[in-house]
Amino acid sequence: MRHSTLRQLEVFETIARLGSFTRAAEELFLTQPTVSMQIKKLTDAVGLTLFEQVGKKIYLTDAGRALHQTCRDIFEHLARFEMVAADMKGLKAGKLRLAVVTTAKYFAPRLLGMFCQQYPGVEVSLKVANRECLLERLADNQDDLYILGQPPEEVDAVAQAFLENPLVVLAPINHPLANKKRISLKRIAEEPFLSREPGSGTRIATERIFSEQGLKLKIRMELGSNEAIKQTIIGGLGISVLSHHTLGLDASMGQLAVLDVEGFPIHRHWYYAYPSGKQLSIVAQAFLGYLQQAPRFLVEGSSQYANISH
Ligand code: PGA
Repeated sequence: MRHSTLRQLEVFETIARLGSFTRAAEELFLTQPTVSMQIKKLTDAVGLTLFEQVGKKIYLTDAGRALHQTCRDIFEHLARFEMVAADMKGLKAGKLRLAVVTTAKYFAPRLLGMFCQQYPGVEVSLKVANRECLLERLADNQDDLYILGQPPEEVDAVAQAFLENPLVVLAPINHPLANKKRISLKRIAEEPFLSREPGSGTRIATERIFSEQGLKLKIRMELGSNEAIKQTIIGGLGISVLSHHTLGLDASMGQLAVLDVEGFPIHRHWYYAYPSGKQLSIVAQAFLGYLQQAPRFLVEGSSQYANISH
């Protein structure tokens, strides 16, 4: 193994992550024969098969899986050292890998934009996925920081609230309930309901409030995106519960009404989180410092949080 190069490990890690020699070659700007040659040399050095091919798919062998984890540890340490070195040079440079739940995409890009203006040397990657997928990534320590709608309970993590995340009941603007006051949860449960997909934090919070009252929603349709739900509400197929953030950035607000329902808005928060014991990179620490001021930045940028009226 001693004669293996970092380059070989990088090629191996990329194939293992992407599950494909071709895509790894593209990501690394290498030719496919070069990629195959690097893997052959690495395999010879290890003395065990690293990949096996079944049909067109590539799978890691047990040795491959162990080496993949080792590579990730090595690259994480190296990245941390690079950032320490950069910081020593007086630059806040390096990489920030942020993963956020689907609904946070309504504000996370703006937050990142403002952060990158402050630290132009920082390279950012943003992964957007639903809560369930994010918790898997967190348990697997795949990113630097996570933003989600409820502190992770399933994984041992550090979590801190930094921004409000009210959930509201949305209906088409011409819905008979649109002008009613103090609508009961029971009445809402009678309406056809458009639900987010299983694994969504919005869905979990919504189902909880109804089941606490012994009520069950009449789910008419399940959709995997907030945008699709908003369009389906406008199309008249049902009502839904979504984060107020989903109303922030486009013109659909004029076609949607926020209903005045008992127990709503559900007062939730956005949390940042990372696995307990993780040593945060300098850039991630700078981003956390910046997040403490996030509500001020976002409210200055938009007045959406001031007017959750019905
Ligand atoms: P979701 O998460 O986008 O997966 O629904 C949002 C939340 O947890 O509030």
